[in-house]
Amino acid sequence: MAGRIPQGFIDDLLERTDLVELIQRHVPLKKSGSEFSACCPFHAEKTPSFYVSPQKQFYHCFGCGAHGTAISFLMEYENLSFPEAIEQLAEWAGLEVPRESAGPEAEPVAPLLEALEAASRFYIEQLKRTPAAIDYLKARGIDGATARDFALGWAPAAADTLARALGSRFDTETLIASGLVARRDDGSIRDRFRARILFPIRDRRGKVTGFGGRLIEPGEPKYLNSPESAVFHKGQTIYGLYEARRAETRLAELVVTEGYMDVVGLAQAGFHRAVACMGTALTRAHLDLLFRQVPRLVLCFDGDEAGRRAAWRSLEQALPVIQGMREVRVLFLPEGDDPDSLVRREGLPGWEHRLAGSSVLSETFVHLLAERYPLDTAEGRSQCAHAAVALIRTVTDPLFRTQLCDLVAEQTRTPRTQVLAMLGQPADGADLPASAGTPTGPRPQDRPGQGSSHLWSALLARVLQWPQADWQDPALDRLLAAGGRGAEILGMVLDRIEASPGITTARLLEQFRDESYFPRLMALAGHSLGDEDAELARRVALDSANRLFREHCRERIRELSGRTEGPLSSDELEELKRLQGWLAAGEGSARVRE
Ligand code: UTP
Ligand code: MN
Repeated sequence: MAGRIPQGFIDDLLERTDLVELIQRHVPLKKSGSEFSACCPFHAEKTPSFYVSPQKQFYHCFGCGAHGTAISFLMEYENLSFPEAIEQLAEWAGLEVPRESAGPEAEPVAPLLEALEAASRFYIEQLKRTPAAIDYLKARGIDGATARDFALGWAPAAADTLARALGSRFDTETLIASGLVARRDDGSIRDRFRARILFPIRDRRGKVTGFGGRLIEPGEPKYLNSPESAVFHKGQTIYGLYEARRAETRLAELVVTEGYMDVVGLAQAGFHRAVACMGTALTRAHLDLLFRQVPRLVLCFDGDEAGRRAAWRSLEQALPVIQGMREVRVLFLPEGDDPDSLVRREGLPGWEHRLAGSSVLSETFVHLLAERYPLDTAEGRSQCAHAAVALIRTVTDPLFRTQLCDLVAEQTRTPRTQVLAMLGQPADGADLPASAGTPTGPRPQDRPGQGSSHLWSALLARVLQWPQADWQDPALDRLLAAGGRGAEILGMVLDRIEASPGITTARLLEQFRDESYFPRLMALAGHSLGDEDAELARRVALDSANRLFREHCRERIRELSGRTEGPLSSDELEELKRLQGWLAAGEGSARVRE
């Protein structure tokens, strides 16, 4: 809505913020060596495993894996969105948050919100005077109080009642931009919603950003939604969130359903923790939004084939966002039922009983895989293991990864070490920047050899944790020139370091918040490096870089010398010689412990 916050401001703000002081406001910290420690505020524990580094401006819990910067802390601890966390920090620092204008095509949103609010009031009035609409809701068990809580409305059948009612206060362009009216081919305008029960969709602060409308007679489409607009983005909007937050002061869990009526029907029955993603598949943006509100989600799916496909898609979306105390559960409903029909038939106790029978995500993971692959044959089990590993690759939480590997090893009767090897992951649970953010797996040209992802982790973790060390080194230049995904990310990190002398780990990380590999970088920044100092970290990192480069040389030599179609060009021959030269020189060089 408001313009983007300039990256430079965020960086400046972090420079003025002290993470230790910030966390002290919420959690008493004890000095522990060069760091501070406490019992982790993100999980229950009796002995402290939560550490805050003043130097890195980064916190990390060895118990639950929670980690991050001052911004992450506010987002997680106070359930704030990213811009809200920035606002909070700025307020403490006594600064005003500047906004970049969102581009020349951006429309001012205030008039759209005003028009949508006025429309909502108009539709509520119409519902009160339309017995057929009231009867429809009554027949579905919805009473006046619930209709009021959800601000349900009625859009009359005539073509332009809304346009006429709002026409004197809002210009036509505003009404069109808000999605309330549409222009016909002949240039005249008409209401988008006609003869429908309207469900206003409200943002976190209760502002109406769009509507869903249901026909009360058979017809197509059964539901019509507002089009995408400057204020309404379906892929990032959750229906019922505002209402749930308002109804329940301490929300710890949300149940994600498919439809407007599921949310309203459950609320009518006294269950106020349901939300819906409005007929679209659950996206990463949805999950991020939901996890900012609560640590536990229950996803509901139909028991039929379509429901299983939707569950698989949601599994793919959910695996990467599980971390720390976050939990996803899955509830399969009986075929032909939805939460609304269930709660109507079985009442609140029946619904809560079913909810209690939901499965954790890892169980669903195993269950869905078993449905897809025949586990009674060696072929089926190996296909299953491959599919499972591809999914596990997307998991960012190292502890959850390990747990899933155990399950897959057992399910497919594969030795655990082999599952870990397939994942390209050493048994200590190091993270994998080589496949960071690319759930489809590494591209062929940067297919890592055995252990190369471990080397990438070793290298990147040290660069991120010791940005003030001297990273000008030919070993890194060579590695960057060799290309590949890891080199791409490393290159960007080193560019930032070079551009901002004295940058902290936290400020460095925050430059990458919008990138798909951000969670990996955060995990690497939290990796324990023992008691290494800057110099040792630098030497270990450069040694990893050398090994990675040698591995690249070997791979490329294998590729060139194994070429079967046609002779090598003179350039390629030269490259081959150069690579062999590098390798020979490298073998003699001193090695540092890893
Ligand atoms: P369903 O068809 O499952 O309907 O659509 P429902 O929620 O059970 O609704 P009732 O009980 O028949 O009233 C689920 C969701 O999919 C979207 C809507 O968001 C709906 O709530 N949908 C459905 C559409 O957007 N358009 C449609 O035509 C149908
Ligand atoms: Mn329904």
